[in-house]
Amino acid sequence: MKAVEFACDLVSSPAVKPHLESLAGFDIGTFRHSARIFWTSVLAGGEMDLTLRQWTELACGALFHDLGKTGIPRGIIVNNGSLDPKQTEQVRLHPEYGFGMLANFPFNGARGPVIAHHRYKENPYPEEGRSHMSELAAVVAALDQFDALAYSRPYRDGLSMSKVEEILRAQFIGDPNVIDLAMRIGKQNLPAELARRLRI
Ligand SMILES: [Fe+2]
Ligand SMILES: [Fe+2]
Repeated sequence: MKAVEFACDLVSSPAVKPHLESLAGFDIGTFRHSARIFWTSVLAGGEMDLTLRQWTELACGALFHDLGKTGIPRGIIVNNGSLDPKQTEQVRLHPEYGFGMLANFPFNGARGPVIAHHRYKENPYPEEGRSHMSELAAVVAALDQFDALAYSRPYRDGLSMSKVEEILRAQFIGDPNVIDLAMRIGKQNLPAELARRLRI
């Protein structure tokens, strides 16, 4: 199946729509960020050896990786960076919130990337040489981090590609091939048909 067709079908599916609407109604910045990572993860999945179900779980994990933010007061999320320790702790919990919100989501494997997408700096099994993240979670984590660095935020401009790559390689303890993938496709724009469906 073609990536655009796959993505457009998915955002119109009854399982996805309600969560998508709650994300869109919450904060446009978070929604656009999620939509970009959704698209780049669809492209990434198209290059990986995945079943259709795994591709769907990767894409939904990316689309809803920050869904848990909708459970936090909006003022904290759209804040320009000056949070008190209690607010910082609330933001830190958004992967857990999102994991809970997707408890009945039919593509259950999407919950893995949701709960793990900020765990790219910590590996509980370094001495065993085991990977600490699933492949799908690592892809979402790298694309999320790429997007956070490369695109402008209200309080700072997006960084250059060389700076983004330097930071990603220094911070990300997962498979370095995932960084190569993120650097290659992280800046791909949404196709017009998908942007139309998402009304962005
Ligand atoms: Fe996040
Ligand atoms: Fe994010």
